[in-house]
Amino acid sequence: MNIRELLNDKVLTAMHACGIPADLPALIAPGKKAGFGDYQANCAMGAAKAMGTNPRELATKIVAALQPELEGIADKLEIAGPGFINIDLNPTWLGQQIASAQTDARLNIASSSAPQNVVIDYSGPNLAKEMHVGHLRSTIIGDALARLLEFQGHNVIRQNHVGDWGTQFGMLIAQLEEELNKKQEEQSSANNEMALKDLEVFYQQAKKHFDDDAAFADKARSYVVRLQSGDAEMLKLWQQFKDISLKHSTEIYEQLNVTLNDEHVRGESSYNDYLAPLVQELQDQGLATESEGAQVVFLQELADKDGNPSPVIIQKQGGGFLYATTDLAALRYRVKTLNANRIMYFIDARQSLHMQQVFTIARNAKFASDNLSLEHLAFGTMMGNDGKPFKTRTGGTVKLAELLTEAVERAGNLVRERSTDLSESDIAEIARKVGIGSVKYSDLSKTRTNDYIFSWESMLSFEGNTAPYMQYAFTRVQSIFRKAGVTPESLQSDIVIGTEQEKTLAIKLLQFSEVLDQVAREALPHLLCTYLYEIASLYMTFYEACPILKEGIEPETRDSRLRLCHLVARTIEQGLELLGIEVMERM
Ligand code: ARG
Repeated sequence: MNIRELLNDKVLTAMHACGIPADLPALIAPGKKAGFGDYQANCAMGAAKAMGTNPRELATKIVAALQPELEGIADKLEIAGPGFINIDLNPTWLGQQIASAQTDARLNIASSSAPQNVVIDYSGPNLAKEMHVGHLRSTIIGDALARLLEFQGHNVIRQNHVGDWGTQFGMLIAQLEEELNKKQEEQSSANNEMALKDLEVFYQQAKKHFDDDAAFADKARSYVVRLQSGDAEMLKLWQQFKDISLKHSTEIYEQLNVTLNDEHVRGESSYNDYLAPLVQELQDQGLATESEGAQVVFLQELADKDGNPSPVIIQKQGGGFLYATTDLAALRYRVKTLNANRIMYFIDARQSLHMQQVFTIARNAKFASDNLSLEHLAFGTMMGNDGKPFKTRTGGTVKLAELLTEAVERAGNLVRERSTDLSESDIAEIARKVGIGSVKYSDLSKTRTNDYIFSWESMLSFEGNTAPYMQYAFTRVQSIFRKAGVTPESLQSDIVIGTEQEKTLAIKLLQFSEVLDQVAREALPHLLCTYLYEIASLYMTFYEACPILKEGIEPETRDSRLRLCHLVARTIEQGLELLGIEVMERM
């Protein structure tokens, strides 16, 4: 139980003892300013209003009932202003809490008492093309939430809804077939992978071929038809194409330290068989109607300002199905087969209307029960320095693979500049962690829903709320232990919270699980980044004010402070791990 939950229980007990109705909340919050309590209970005002009494008088009664409840936990309870109850925590108690977290494998963070099946839909690249920066945000934000919810004990089911179906695949497999034939004629030993070495170039070639050569275009069209009717030869080519393309994505996931693998891929094509029956069902329910030869669901819920319902086409005139149809089928699968309690979609804000339409139809058709949580967790666009969507200097899309290579290179230069006593292989390892960590952290530390500017300078800075700063804070603690010549495990002394700096840091450390709860609820990883940054900053303040290895420091004080340092390092390490970012011993 974290401090907030503990105080919540205690204050509720005191409230009930004062005859306050059971449904009124305790309203516990961390103190906002020094001198106004470590925590506050803000229940008295609302309760007094509901009961028609004076808030300060009620607060006095609550405090009287709370005092014995908080024996040994709080030192001082004070009433401020109209009836705020300020709670000052007891340093001895805090020291014990810190000591027990420091030695616990999970930092005393309990697993969820009500684990859920959480489906997380993220990354979702289109396999026809190489992954580009547009998929970066979905991939790293989604992965952070997957890691965090898993850490909390939920059953996380990752779903990579890749684009592996649609008309362009006719063109692509026709092109692949030609390339393979050519290779055979040339008796070239190069395998199919070579033909697709650069997916982007391959796509351009196929497109040009399609535009310039009418016979090829006809063939491509006939291949789509054959593919969609299940022709084995076509399916084989298509599968080959998919395998190679997926390999590209998997390499990026590995490079990015993202937990997605082939098992999580469930592409659009896997729902093909469910599309026709789904349309039929929506027709039977009277939700879909024919309009100009197409099957359309009209949604009054999403009507425009003139009251015209929002039309969602689920089947085209010629019989083809759409993105929304596939998403409805995927949603059903997630409900019926995966038993989802919560489905989180990490998709660009520009697809908001699409998601709203899918969710509304799913609710109306009873594909989703009321207690299923459907969440479109939208994010903004990654911008270049010019304030426009991030592009290469020539205006092309930036490939993820190239961006990551550049990040590691730049980080390598920085590390080399800063330190002289590292081997080249150490530098390479650190550069990888710093470079990839910077790209991820700079994204995760921004409010998810906003656009943000991609800047090498700020993400690789050792100052401010950045990956290098956090990783550096971690290495500083490691170096103190090296200097002290002790291992954290060997420290036995009590933790004494003797100074203001130690107390502030201790309370902040004990709030880790409160922060994780909030991040999990709102899917806002930047709150975790802000928290880790605060820890690192409070740690620096503590370090300035509270000498550790200085001559004349009592061994008990030294060990107590070392234990506090150790919990700082473990919290940073755990926090970064939940964000998918690695730490290192030195840099
Ligand atoms: N492939 C899609 C795109 O690149 C993203 C898929 C997102 N997931 C979903 N269930 N629609 O835009």
